[in-house]
Amino acid sequence: MKTTRRGFLAGASAAALVAGCTKDAEDSAHSTPQGSPRREPEPARWQPEGTLDLALFPYAVVSTDVTDSRVILAVRSEGVETLELQVVEAVDGAWVPAREEGELGAADGFVQLEVSGLKADTAYNFVFKGPEGRRSPVGRFRTALAAGQDRYLVFGATSCLNTPNAPWPSMSHVAALDTDAFFQLGDTVYADGCETLDEYRVYWAQAMATQGLNDVLLSTSQVATWDDHEVENNWALGENVTQEKLDAAAAAFREHLPWRDGGGAFGLWRKLSWGAVADIFVLECRSERAPEEGLYLSVEQMDWLKSGLSASSARFKLILNSVPITDFTAMLGAAEADDRWQSFTEQRAEILGHIEDQGLQGVLWISGDMHFGSVLWLSPEGELGADQREVMVGPSGSTRMALVDVYPEGGQYTELIGLWNSVTFGLDATLGEVLVCFYGDAGEILAEQTLAL
Ligand SMILES: [Fe+2]
Repeated sequence: MKTTRRGFLAGASAAALVAGCTKDAEDSAHSTPQGSPRREPEPARWQPEGTLDLALFPYAVVSTDVTDSRVILAVRSEGVETLELQVVEAVDGAWVPAREEGELGAADGFVQLEVSGLKADTAYNFVFKGPEGRRSPVGRFRTALAAGQDRYLVFGATSCLNTPNAPWPSMSHVAALDTDAFFQLGDTVYADGCETLDEYRVYWAQAMATQGLNDVLLSTSQVATWDDHEVENNWALGENVTQEKLDAAAAAFREHLPWRDGGGAFGLWRKLSWGAVADIFVLECRSERAPEEGLYLSVEQMDWLKSGLSASSARFKLILNSVPITDFTAMLGAAEADDRWQSFTEQRAEILGHIEDQGLQGVLWISGDMHFGSVLWLSPEGELGADQREVMVGPSGSTRMALVDVYPEGGQYTELIGLWNSVTFGLDATLGEVLVCFYGDAGEILAEQTLAL
């Protein structure tokens, strides 16, 4: 089953090495005659009035969950009760005022607000201001495409930002590309052992002030989900985590990388749309697990995912999935399989069968967690999911998994990257291709593949 398509794709990937990632990095306005139109160049960063004050604003400003008209903006300041916000918009190659907000009240130093009325597919810069013109760094974001709009999109992604490889240089290299948005696939902090909100905040503050994440936050809007270490290693409510601890962990996460409410106890599973090109399904794969009932996701989240995938008219359906859905039996046997979709066989078959039965085009799973990068087929040939793709991103900071340095590539595991990395996804809806580029700590391209989806 499906062997023909797999054989064809192996050849297509090799051919695509000719163009690709370097061009993405050096010429994002490059146009491919037969592909989707590219983004127009944006003006250089806005230079606002006032004095940059990193004591008052100890880490980056944040933008998240853009739509074609809205964005969530956030900042943390030290000891200021009210802030102002200034937003400028790129018009004909220059920055023009788009929005001002005064007297934003800071709770424990945190300010968050949702800004609406923005133009689709437009670059914005923004800054928060305290007293006497003291200001934050300048942040950039770009609104999503309007319904039906097509453009070549570039999204960044990584996972697992632990300290061994701080300051996470691969993230800075992807930040320099000013991607359309950036996906945080989880383990953004390793806050194991914390109990209170104040304790969790310490880990978030450290991460946000670290160069790689700081650069990414200033470069574009974020789409974040969590994995386990935002709460506790391999946690389970009622076992090693109390409700109080879980709520504190969720509150700290939300203070730093806010999201627009979707479904579930924390509103974390949600969909974001980028015109005709991509629908992004953000999963929450930690708090709804019930192994005794065979549930990796709640029934509600599973139903939402299935119906959302079926209803999507976007060319690509990206599923942000903190822990991979690929079957790693060939590589790892059953090691830690109970932490993955792999051991939740019924739900895994339910979603993979749904995608296959409905003949859904353009589905790509994007995951983190396992501390190596990879491009994968979800299952061995002949099994359900054998025709579906997953890309694992990161780690940008956590201890690397040494096994992939010696494990042979090929078969189900078409690309294995044992070095610290961050990733870009170039989505060409016209060609039906996703260019996947793995960036290393020196900005080098560790691997690239073009996936025909
Ligand atoms: Fe991790």
